[in-house]
Amino acid sequence: MAFKLDSVVPWGRNMEEYKLMFRLNDSDMSKKIAGFGDGPACFNCEMTERNGNVTSFDVIYQFSKSEIERRIEEVRVTVMQQMRENMDNYVWKNIKSLDELENIRMSAMRKFLADYEKGRAQGRYIFHELPDRLPYGEDCFDIGLSSHFLLMYTSLGYDFHIAAMTEMLRVCKEIRIFPIVDLDANKTEMIKSVIEYFQRDYEVGIVTTEYEFQKGDNKLLIIRKK
Ligand SMILES: C[S@@+](CC[C@H](N)C(=O)[O-])C[C@H]1O[C@@H](n2cnc3c(N)ncnc32)[C@H](O)[C@@H]1O
Repeated sequence: MAFKLDSVVPWGRNMEEYKLMFRLNDSDMSKKIAGFGDGPACFNCEMTERNGNVTSFDVIYQFSKSEIERRIEEVRVTVMQQMRENMDNYVWKNIKSLDELENIRMSAMRKFLADYEKGRAQGRYIFHELPDRLPYGEDCFDIGLSSHFLLMYTSLGYDFHIAAMTEMLRVCKEIRIFPIVDLDANKTEMIKSVIEYFQRDYEVGIVTTEYEFQKGDNKLLIIRKK
């Protein structure tokens, strides 16, 4: 069945947020990075502006700029309404209000849209659906990132997450997943099982981040080859 853009809620974060979520230091920022499920985040665009090396993968990159733009406008009202209804579940420290949140997110996504066609032509935005095999050899990337996608969408099931992260670990020397809670900010049994699975063969660490927006979502999972 063809993938439908209507099934995705494109909502993007910026480079500063990626830096905090993934604890990316100056040395990390100069490495070869793959972003999985980067969607309309402007991390790739902002990193490219500072001569970084980021390749982003997402199912939405099969669509045109105008199709993604239309979908962002469609979900904007619903997402902001949901945020309004669930304000108590969030920490309003770095981002102080709903208006500020909407401005930050929309400005990130506009930056992404302005960069999208050029980045796609340069091979920086690649249509790919996890857990499908990526067209790269082993350890092609230094760090693989997943923000607000893997471990969060628990309805995709244990097998999906294991297969997706296994494929990421084939092409990346290490992967970082943030956050490690589900959409309701709960650390589920499934998340614990996924972590236990990788602990058998990899170095697995959970570190605290300075980034905490959804209450309790300040933990980053790092998995490295031994
Ligand atoms: C909530 S967005 C997060 C965007 C970005 N990482 C950020 O934090 O700003 C989740 C992204 O995961 C992508 N996605 C969902 N299923 C996917 C799959 N099987 N393979 C690749 N990307 C997927 C969606 O298209 C969407 O862009």
